[in-house]
Amino acid sequence: VCNHPVKHIFRGTFVHSTQDTPLKILEDNVLGVDDDGKIAFIESGKDVVSLSHKWGFKASDVKQLELHEFIMPGLVDTHIHASQYSYTGTALDLPLLQWLNTYTFPVEAKYKDLTFADNVYNKVVRRTLMNGTTTACYFATIHTDASLLLGEIANKLGQRALVGKVCMNCNNAVEHYKESTEESSEETKRFIHELLKKKYPHVRPVVTPRFALSCCSALMRDLGDIAKNNNLHIQSHISENKEECEAVKQLFPEFESYTDVYLKHNLLTDKTVMAHGCYLSDAELQVFRDTGASISHCPNSNISICSGLLDVRNVLNHKVKIGLGTDVAGGYSPSILDAIRRALDSSKVLTIQDPSHQTLTFEEVFRLATLGGSQALSLDSETGNFEVGKDFDALLVNVCAPEGPMDICGPEPPKVLLEKFLNLGDDRNIREVYVAGRRVVPFAETASC
Ligand code: GUN
Ligand code: ZN
Repeated sequence: VCNHPVKHIFRGTFVHSTQDTPLKILEDNVLGVDDDGKIAFIESGKDVVSLSHKWGFKASDVKQLELHEFIMPGLVDTHIHASQYSYTGTALDLPLLQWLNTYTFPVEAKYKDLTFADNVYNKVVRRTLMNGTTTACYFATIHTDASLLLGEIANKLGQRALVGKVCMNCNNAVEHYKESTEESSEETKRFIHELLKKKYPHVRPVVTPRFALSCCSALMRDLGDIAKNNNLHIQSHISENKEECEAVKQLFPEFESYTDVYLKHNLLTDKTVMAHGCYLSDAELQVFRDTGASISHCPNSNISICSGLLDVRNVLNHKVKIGLGTDVAGGYSPSILDAIRRALDSSKVLTIQDPSHQTLTFEEVFRLATLGGSQALSLDSETGNFEVGKDFDALLVNVCAPEGPMDICGPEPPKVLLEKFLNLGDDRNIREVYVAGRRVVPFAETASC
């Protein structure tokens, strides 16, 4: 009998992605989660008796999945503005730069008020968890204390999160919603120090220059240094909208490209994730590949504020890491299931425009939403699929939830159930959510194990 007891054992169908296969279906498998929340084993159900002897569990400890149920890896949102959740679903009538000035900056300025922040941040973490987001990479606002509060809430509710205090020292639209260079660097250091001091197991800081139009050269250089000295993640935006790309060219004429601006400020590392990238050239994608930086594909936002269409196939062909993001509130949906659908639609639009474009398959987009996202955030040694030793971040899906949004009209293989869920499902189908072996949905007053 093993020394490490298992705290959950599930038997049924598991679906996940690997490096080699976008969709691997494991029917009648048994998966055990150890006391540390890690996957102890995943093996054929036929071996359950020998597994029970080896791991010291009883038949009654095994949770048998029901018909139309399966377990899949948790969804990864590689780019979401927690602070913009308050107005998600509205204000989508302006292009990026006007949208930021008119809607975004005035709202973000309100997070100076911690009561306001507490309310919205609790709501966004709960909503995304219910929607199956087990890992989220968040932008907060420039306010250090409110950003720390977001980290505290993610930890309390059990979500794996990268949390960024936003840095910006250029903003002509909203008075007071900007920092001096020194303030931005010093507050970033304080944010990192305070957040790390809490020792939350699954919440970490991410260095967050808003984008090249919000940060002067000196600030970007400082932030690159801070990330390097503390071995931290970096997130920002790149090549989202044509007007933005033009403005970056005007502001940084000595650089070869938008990507070169970030590269030369030491902001492109293998722990960098850049949102959008709609207008990156092949040469710029090669720089992403060389540095190990990744792209967050945010199709709802790209369409909603008419920014552009990212050619994901071309990104994949360049072997650049890529995951999906909701980009709330440029994207109006706080669900990665929505991002999956928009990613498929966007790819189909590219095929309509050019029939030689190789449309993404649902299996490929499933991988982007899970393993791809964990790779984009350089968290794939911890999460993203059901390899033994990784944390158990998972969704228990019931495609036939009685109050759910779809019907199953006869016996269907797991692949069909997954495709239906990805295209038609919602939070009513997500019966349970686990992060590092802890059941975090349904919500409990106190943490349930
Ligand atoms: N570029 C700089 N800031 C933002 C933001 O808040 N949202 C989006 N979509 N793009 C940005
Ligand atoms: Zn964004």
